[in-house]
Amino acid sequence: MKSISDEPGISEPYLLGFLTSVGLDVEYTRAEGNTLFFRGEDGEEVPVLDAAGGYGSLIFGHNHPELVARARRLLDEGAPVNAQFSRNSCAQQVAALLSGIVRRETGSTETYAAIFANSGAEAIEAAVKHAELDRVLQVQALVAELAEHTAAARAAVEAGEAALPAGGHQDFEALAEEVSRANAVVGSRPPVFLTLEGSFHGKLVGSVQLTHNTAYRTPFGALANRARFVPLDRPSAVGEIIAEESAALRDIVVRDGVVTLVERPFPLVAAFLLEPIQGEGGIVPLTREFAATVRRECDAAGIPLVIDEIQSGMGRTGAFLASSLIGLRGDYYVLAKSLGGGLAKTSAMLVRSGRYRHEFELVHSSTFAKDGFSTPIALKVLEMLEADGGRAYGIARERGARLAEALEGVRADFPDVVKEVRGKGLMLGLEFHDQSESSSDTVRDGARSGLLGYTLSGYLLREHRVRTFPTASAGNTLRFAPSIHLTDGEIERLADALRAVASVLRDEDEKRLTGG
Ligand code: F0G
Repeated sequence: MKSISDEPGISEPYLLGFLTSVGLDVEYTRAEGNTLFFRGEDGEEVPVLDAAGGYGSLIFGHNHPELVARARRLLDEGAPVNAQFSRNSCAQQVAALLSGIVRRETGSTETYAAIFANSGAEAIEAAVKHAELDRVLQVQALVAELAEHTAAARAAVEAGEAALPAGGHQDFEALAEEVSRANAVVGSRPPVFLTLEGSFHGKLVGSVQLTHNTAYRTPFGALANRARFVPLDRPSAVGEIIAEESAALRDIVVRDGVVTLVERPFPLVAAFLLEPIQGEGGIVPLTREFAATVRRECDAAGIPLVIDEIQSGMGRTGAFLASSLIGLRGDYYVLAKSLGGGLAKTSAMLVRSGRYRHEFELVHSSTFAKDGFSTPIALKVLEMLEADGGRAYGIARERGARLAEALEGVRADFPDVVKEVRGKGLMLGLEFHDQSESSSDTVRDGARSGLLGYTLSGYLLREHRVRTFPTASAGNTLRFAPSIHLTDGEIERLADALRAVASVLRDEDEKRLTGG
């Protein structure tokens, strides 16, 4: 009889088939630093240089000894992992450290409150929910204020202290009724979220609507709120779209003895979300100018800015927050990936105190968020980043510059194949020129279907024992997010491997690429 474990591919069988087709279906058995190991046919360990870095969740590399020791100690000591709804001083320390770091890097005088979650997308959704709660509470306050004004105006009219405006309704109740109907229409409009073309904010029901890739987003459009995508190449579009999404309620007030209608801005846009360096969209850094435009327009319209630092944050770019390097300050920050040190799943969203709604704490929670395993690990990660005056940030900067230099070297040798090297610190991408006219069938077909990057990743793994991937929504760009412990030797290996890929593409060498 067939045993249950022989059942083929119950978990995502199609995806496994794809991995097999491009030679990425390797099962790793051990991990250390920037190296993953699998066992070859002879049973010997084969090391692979991991430039994908757990998609950026390994700022200190796989199984960093200090983090592993911390995790081991927690388990050995019988730490309470699941003691929900109790005091968690570790979580308080993590929150205080995060708030302090944000304040240091942005110059903010306000503290930032932290809400913990389990994954990046979940923390994004927590931010989205918080922003919507804030908007709804603002609307409630506005509606209550308008009701008070209407009552005061009614009383003034009845007392003969105010007149109705000439040429309009001569009956206060008819006027009030018309205004109330118009306000109800505006008030029932659902919120709009603004984000950028090329953005990636996750794949859950709410967050996927803020992710630009149409394949991910459009099948689920009916499930969640509306988002509008602002083009990156036209800063003036920021203000234009905000203006298009503006709305107003009518307020009945008495001015100089006359009942007057005043327009009151209605908060229709719940939040503006952006990545300071778009990751999954192709490693695209925002410019300082674009960021300043977004901040200015959001301030003018009272829209909170949510900065998604899930991929760019946690020191990867040489500062804790990549946004701080372009002078951008957020009302919210979202962190995940390396916050868990590569061992725990955790994420957090931070809200500036002036925007924070404590009511949120009563309506949002998760069984596993803020647990007794992930929070001490996160604390250890933050302590390691901040140690010796933030030495880790300097290392990320220096190693990143060295890696960028090596990638630029590849581009300089193959300018006909490599289009551009982009990114900051240890969040880098290398974009190839379009290959859709290649005489190699595999290259051409791959380029036309957008999957060439995976074939190139398969080649790099098979021939050079290097692991990297394309950014999923920009298939011509390979991504690199290694740990800060990247050595000169590893950089050299990576550059050599990329030179080999570039030469395969230049030579349109089907045989070398497919190993056939
Ligand atoms: N936001 C950004 C900027 C991300 O890069 C990701 C994930 C998420 C949100 C969602 O986080 O996967 O923990 O739910 N990016 C992965 C990537 C998928 O390709 O780097 P998640």
